[in-house]
Amino acid sequence: MKKLVVLTGAGMSAESGISTFRDAGGLWDKYPVEQVATPEGYHANPKLVIDFYNERRKQLLTVSPNRGHELLAELEKDFEVTVITQNVDNLHERAGSSQVIHLHGELMKVTSTWAPNDPRYIKELSPEEYEIKIGDKADDGSQLRPFIVWFGESVPMIETAIDYCEQADIFLIIGTSLNVYPAAGLLNYVPAHVPVYLIDPKQVPIASGRPVHVIQKGASAGMEELIESLRNL
Ligand code: APR
Repeated sequence: MKKLVVLTGAGMSAESGISTFRDAGGLWDKYPVEQVATPEGYHANPKLVIDFYNERRKQLLTVSPNRGHELLAELEKDFEVTVITQNVDNLHERAGSSQVIHLHGELMKVTSTWAPNDPRYIKELSPEEYEIKIGDKADDGSQLRPFIVWFGESVPMIETAIDYCEQADIFLIIGTSLNVYPAAGLLNYVPAHVPVYLIDPKQVPIASGRPVHVIQKGASAGMEELIESLRNL
């Protein structure tokens, strides 16, 4: 089976009702990114940050995967699909995608403040007990924090993601403004002969100037069109 590697961003989940970050009215308009998504913000006011992610988790529990997530999961019948996502929601998994690499962490998980990437301390929260509070401890005795990669932190999954990009037979980008590195640079690892598709209702500039099949639609309608194109490939 051909290897289809997919890079997704916040636009993938927009039709599920989760706001994107940089569109008008997006999350970073409402919450100062330095306060809620940097290690400095967390150290300055851990409660604010913990509550912010409690709120995001609560919202995630009320939404469902959209048709775009479902169609992507269905492609596993015909392709070896690897989803590399910048999203911290679990909608790809809930739609049935079996191989999902989370570059920026996972909302339903929490970890140690001292060693956030140590697998011994990463725990999945249950939908019934999705909130954490000041005083909750990881197994190393430090404050539990969200398992989220904040700005300025390392992105440990990037090496794995690069390996998949180098092996891709087809590459697909869905719903990301490609503003945030290293995720935005992954396209540079996709071999030059590999066809690249991009689904996004807005025009997304591709830094390398490499030719891309653009499907200027939302995730669900865009996935329908992509499936037609892949049949004719
Ligand atoms: N379907 C597909 N794409 C959509 C839709 C939709 N229905 N609605 C909006 N989009 C597109 C927007 O046009 C935009 O190009 O989704 C993209 C969202 O871009 P951003 O808000 O910048 O989100 P993303 O690229 O995922 O951000 C990357 O930045 O803040 C950090 O860690 C956070 O993972 C995030 C990273």
